[in-house]
Amino acid sequence: MAEEFDVIVIGAGPGGYVAAIRAAQHGLKVACVESRETLGGTCLNVGCIPSKALLHASELYAHAADGSLAKFGVETSGVKLNLGAMLDEKLAAVKGLTDGIAFLFKKNKVTWLKGRARFTGKSSIDVGGAAYTAKSIVIATGSSVTPLPGVEIDQKVVVDSTGALSLPKVPKHLVVIGGGVIGLELGSVWMRLGAKVTVVEYLDQILPGMDGDVRKDMARLLKKQGMEFRTSTKVTGVKVAKGTAAVTVEPAAGGAAETLEADAVLVSIGRRPNTDGLDLDKAGVVLNARGQIEVGHKFETGVAGIYAIGDVTPGPMLAHKAEDEGVAVADFLAGRVGYVNHDVIPAVVYTMPEAASVGKTEDELKAAGVEVKVGKFPFAGNSRAKTNRDTDGFVKVIADAATDRVLGVHIVGSLAGTMIAQAAQAMEFGASSEDIALTCHAHPTHSEALKEAAMAVEGKAIHV
Ligand code: FAD
Ligand code: NAI
Repeated sequence: MAEEFDVIVIGAGPGGYVAAIRAAQHGLKVACVESRETLGGTCLNVGCIPSKALLHASELYAHAADGSLAKFGVETSGVKLNLGAMLDEKLAAVKGLTDGIAFLFKKNKVTWLKGRARFTGKSSIDVGGAAYTAKSIVIATGSSVTPLPGVEIDQKVVVDSTGALSLPKVPKHLVVIGGGVIGLELGSVWMRLGAKVTVVEYLDQILPGMDGDVRKDMARLLKKQGMEFRTSTKVTGVKVAKGTAAVTVEPAAGGAAETLEADAVLVSIGRRPNTDGLDLDKAGVVLNARGQIEVGHKFETGVAGIYAIGDVTPGPMLAHKAEDEGVAVADFLAGRVGYVNHDVIPAVVYTMPEAASVGKTEDELKAAGVEVKVGKFPFAGNSRAKTNRDTDGFVKVIADAATDRVLGVHIVGSLAGTMIAQAAQAMEFGASSEDIALTCHAHPTHSEALKEAAMAVEGKAIHV
């Protein structure tokens, strides 16, 4: 006899584990299937958390090692890198958080079914030979790295993001294929630890999808730190011999090939949804042309009783998008109203400075024929940033020219990832740029730059 649940969630990433906990909080009988040894999905195990642990640690090392603290009266000498300790500390952070999800499952009485799930019907699955049924099944299987044809990932010399989180030594030369979020974050980690980093990007600029001013400024600032960019360039092959990679590149538009020698290569050209082995055909769930599961307003797939959330569905592949969808789908399953505003999902690149964005870019709005007013304020005019000698970047507020409603906020700055929450909240409440400009901001804080950028929408910033 198959064991019966109200809800079975497949995948325990930020989408799945949050959906499972929320559904259980609503009093439903819930199981969550996860094939990894630990809960938390890509994000906690090999994504957001370990990458941020290394970004934090490598930044501490770079500040201690490069002498930049001396002007503050902090003189260092004999600074040494203990990579083993740095990697152990990262693992400790991961363990603390993944164990935390196991604790939350117990606390909320969510049953963890360990193993791989596959559908056997519209309301039934198999996990390791055991049968389970549920009134509702939520697919939250996430995503994996997109392979590059002709480039074999061996996790030694040629790595994906998971391999790049655990390199046993600092490479002399790291070639990063793809100038997106993973390439710039993990490229920054190894550059700070001493590697020469060359980013090969197919398009003419890094960070596709972000605002044009952000893309330009980030390229300039990362170049200043020593990162090399080969834009409008494609990789045609990687050959590994004796621990060294020969990366063949040529102009994206065609032209003479050349070879880059590297002792590590990171493939980071995007991620694709995980649906292999789910036997979706047994349930009647179909994929779109991009291999994603399309869903309607209530996250329901084309099959009644089967839902999908997170990276396996269209939209930005971000942990907080998956989490919010997890809460919302569980609310719907409990007969309540779930809510996610897909127009207001912030995105952050955790380099130094950080880049953060919410809403539309100026180019998107112009392409849609929307008349806009733009206010920009540089951190060079912000007293706290000046005091901290931390003046790289700017805040850009884009408002509708007719109504003044804020349509997008884009920030480059050391605290951009934290500051963007305020912008997202303002947009969620339908704020105008004047609303932000009239909100009292504490002094001296970096956040005052957002207020000044909002004032700049009417051409009346004070400190420039
Ligand atoms: P996942 O987290 O991918 O979880 C899906 C889970 O389902 C996995 O654990 C998988 O093992 C399991 N699974 C799959 N198929 C089955 C099956 N058949 N049976 C049982 N279990 C199954 N996002 C951010 O917002 N901020 C960041 O800073 C950030 N940093 C990142 C850094 C890196 C290096 C990477 C790779 C990603 C990063 N992301 C970040 C993206 C983020 O990790 C994902 O958007 C997020 O994890 C998606 O959540 P999810 O629940 O949809 O899927
Ligand atoms: P990405 O989509 O951010 O960037 C991939 C880059 O590779 C793009 O610039 C693209 O033009 C380029 N590219 C594609 N094919 C190429 C080729 N053949 N040669 C050279 N360049 C090529 O994907 P990435 O960096 O792999 O990250 C995947 C996803 O993970 C992100 O989209 C994001 O959603 C998530 N993520 C989020 C983070 C965050 O929120 N801070 C951190 C890391 C990942």
